[in-house]
Amino acid sequence: MTAAQIKAIRTTQPGGTEILESISLTLGAPGQGEVLLRQTAIGVNLIDVYQRMASSGQYAIEHPAILGVEAAGVIEAIGPGVSDLNIGDRVAYWMVRGAYAQKRLIDASRLVKLPDFVSDETAAACMVKGTTAYYLLHRIYAVKPGDVVLVHSAAGGVGQLLCQWAKHLGATVIGTVGSTEKIAVAKAMGCDHVIVYRDTDFAAKVRELTAGQGVHVVYDSIGKDTFEGSLNALRPLGTMVSFGQASGPVPPIDISVLAQKGSVFLAKPTLATFTQKRSDIESLATGLFQALGNGVITVDIKHRAPLSEVALMHNALEARQTMGSIVLTP
Ligand SMILES: NC(=O)c1ccc[n+]([C@@H]2O[C@H](COP(=O)([O-])OP(=O)(O)OC[C@H]3O[C@@H](n4cnc5c(N)ncnc54)[C@H](OP(=O)(O)O)[C@@H]3O)[C@@H](O)[C@H]2O)c1
Repeated sequence: MTAAQIKAIRTTQPGGTEILESISLTLGAPGQGEVLLRQTAIGVNLIDVYQRMASSGQYAIEHPAILGVEAAGVIEAIGPGVSDLNIGDRVAYWMVRGAYAQKRLIDASRLVKLPDFVSDETAAACMVKGTTAYYLLHRIYAVKPGDVVLVHSAAGGVGQLLCQWAKHLGATVIGTVGSTEKIAVAKAMGCDHVIVYRDTDFAAKVRELTAGQGVHVVYDSIGKDTFEGSLNALRPLGTMVSFGQASGPVPPIDISVLAQKGSVFLAKPTLATFTQKRSDIESLATGLFQALGNGVITVDIKHRAPLSEVALMHNALEARQTMGSIVLTP
């Protein structure tokens, strides 16, 4: 195999979008257990923004780095020790950094084959977001018919999938959105009620909508700005799932607050825990592909751009101007 010349987007330090630079790289042949993947579609996630910006804490990474944690593509070459994949297979991966590139070398054990009914673009748009929705709704708090569920940022990437799936599981879904133009999208994704939460006491509104009862579970990806309100929106024995920090990290809390709010449960899960083992990767992918195949969820790709314009997509995400998924074309 001859060396592959490719373009990638690299960072050399944490910072704003100005640190995203286009570079040329030469890739060698795949090593033991690796494949060379020609990427056809690359997903963008808020995690990429956190990793670009963080100089310390949970999301800090080593630089120089190639950001991006999910993509789909076609296998071009196979290294020694890879027996279950072939050249030409259509595959996807998620939670493996280094996606902002035309091609990459990747550990074959992180790949899943794509069924015919899942396009490369759809896979790149939902491996992270869809598997997150799957484990949050089935493993962290198992949503059941009759539950009342609160989903923040209901028109966002993960939010849209949580709403559709929770509705399918039989829940009444209350969604929050940051601006009025997102209301119709949240409704189309299965929300029974939508609250524009930017300047509203959303917990009071939730109490009004639930005859004072509160919700069984809150899926909170906003963090600092919503944490307290989310606890206040719960019914006794409810579950608060704090799985993101779009507005910033939640400050340390006194755990006695969980008793005061009605013996509520608090979970702080990360997808990394659910993608450590090969069996977990396979079961999450199976759960997601079944939901796509059965029409339980549809993936709304609202934003498409060439890889070279990734900075524009980061800016839009940070400015709360996106809805649904963002896909880059290498
Ligand atoms: N724990 C896990 O396993 C896991 C896995 C994947 C993703 N996540 C988390 O899930 C969340 C959603 O990710 P995504 O990629 O689908 O992004 P997204 O929801 O499409 O975009 C972020 C949204 O957050 C809302 N937001 C509220 N305050 C914000 C602020 N100060 N700055 C920016 N956005 C703000 C905005 O929606 P509104 O305008 O409607 O408020 C914005 O559109 C992220 O917090 C991410 O870290 C967690």
